[in-house]
Amino acid sequence: MHPVTTRALALGIAGALLPLTPALAADAETLERGRYVNIIGGCNDCHTPDYALSEGQTPEARWLTGDVLGWHGPWGTTYAPNLRLKAAAMSVEEWVEMSRTLRTRPPMPWFNLNQMSAEDAAALYHYIRSLGEPGEPAPAALPPGETPPVPYADFVVK
Ligand code: HEC
Repeated sequence: MHPVTTRALALGIAGALLPLTPALAADAETLERGRYVNIIGGCNDCHTPDYALSEGQTPEARWLTGDVLGWHGPWGTTYAPNLRLKAAAMSVEEWVEMSRTLRTRPPMPWFNLNQMSAEDAAALYHYIRSLGEPGEPAPAALPPGETPPVPYADFVVK
């Protein structure tokens, strides 16, 4: 049988048996694009535990689950949130709009994310939704002046 027919048949059967999940709804090309945007956009660097310090060796099973490393500076202490939980609570339209308008405390490069094309943002959303169990939320941010628990990185401008 022609591969495309086989795939359509498989999706048809899956669709009949299961509610259509976002992972099934997005095609393989979209998911691959979202994965690429995540890597090249640097989202793993902060939103994936140990990613930067392990030189990118964190298994994909833990990608974008947020991190307990605190970023401490004049803004208080921030933690890169769990983006699986974030995406799970939003529609693709909401995610694209958020990417265009988001503002946060440092060191999130929201000014770069604001420039992401709607196509790339949507692909990233579908990729995140295709990842497995969302896992736990990252710690809540702390106000300025409060010493965070370890581990944290100190931003001291000299
Ligand atoms: C240098 C580290 C860093 C990088 C790189 C980074 N982030 Fe973040 N991000 C953070 C931190 C820290 C926060 C929390 C900011 C705050 O609490 O004000 C955050 C917040 C966010 C939020 C808001 C989440 C919420 O719950 O409101 C989104 C969405 C987000 N980042 C998406 C991304 C995406 C998409 C990328 C890649 C294109 C990315 N981030 C790259 C550190 C980073």
